[in-house]
Amino acid sequence: MLQIDFSDKKFLVTGGAGTGVGAGVCEAIAACGGQLLINDIDAERAETAASSYPHAFAVPGDVSDAKEVKRIFKAIEKEHGVIQGLVNNAGVGLRKKAHLADESEFDLLYNIDIKGVWMMAKAFVNQLSGQHIMGHIVNISSVHAHSSLSKYAIYASAKSAVEGLTRGMSIELGEMGIRCNAIAPGYVDSQNNYAAAASWTDDPEAFFEKQNNEYQSLRQPIYARDCGNATVFLLSDLARSITGQTIIVDAGSSNQLHANSFIQDKK
Ligand SMILES: NC(=O)c1ccc[n+]([C@@H]2O[C@H](COP(=O)([O-])OP(=O)(O)OC[C@H]3O[C@@H](n4cnc5c(N)ncnc54)[C@H](O)[C@@H]3O)[C@@H](O)[C@H]2O)c1
Repeated sequence: MLQIDFSDKKFLVTGGAGTGVGAGVCEAIAACGGQLLINDIDAERAETAASSYPHAFAVPGDVSDAKEVKRIFKAIEKEHGVIQGLVNNAGVGLRKKAHLADESEFDLLYNIDIKGVWMMAKAFVNQLSGQHIMGHIVNISSVHAHSSLSKYAIYASAKSAVEGLTRGMSIELGEMGIRCNAIAPGYVDSQNNYAAAASWTDDPEAFFEKQNNEYQSLRQPIYARDCGNATVFLLSDLARSITGQTIIVDAGSSNQLHANSFIQDKK
């Protein structure tokens, strides 16, 4: 039977206390028996998230702050030793047209969504290379790096940079046996997305059901765990020959030119 066994491995998931993709990633790693180190800027939620898994520890800290990144990895080294996997999930969104956004909004998003990914990946690789241990990285991009919407230009550009960094680092890390990949989720069935949609619809669930039917090839919702499953695949030896790639977990939405209802001919 084909199985992913992470029972001798430790994984750091940034922003892992979130209700969306990070939670699905943590669930999937735990289901493979991996030990979880759950980072989040919100220390209380990191503790709560860690307490819901059998082998999990909270590692609070801000991934956009260079000093904090150093402190996070020092604490990990002291308390847990070397870790074999990093999932760069922490991220923030921005729904504003690029020509209307201000510098502080741009900087906040870029500092977390791309600079944080680079700083965490750098610290992770340096702790591995010092110990001659192999490990792998999965960065959480977004479908917005492939096809986007009005008011998402800044977010889309940061996620495109995440994929560029993933590709570039995969080339540089290949000789060390470190693989670096990404996943690009579509609209995940999550509290965050329902809360966002509540600003323009009274019934976010019905809104997303309609969107899924109209714009996804697979009409089902995308669960956070679907993102988690793709992530554990990329972290595992099943993906031993895959690096520098992005798996788009979007139920087919980014392939579609128009809504499913565009072609009315039923034949
Ligand atoms: N939810 C989606 O539909 C979706 C789709 C595509 C991509 N993504 C990506 O998935 C990732 C998770 O997003 P989500 O929607 O699940 O959000 P979420 O808000 O549920 O989770 C994000 C977590 O990151 C934490 N965080 C924010 N800034 C941080 C920082 N500086 N340092 C450490 N932690 C920090 C937050 O406290 C939060 O717990 C993001 O990178 C996002 O861009 C989400």
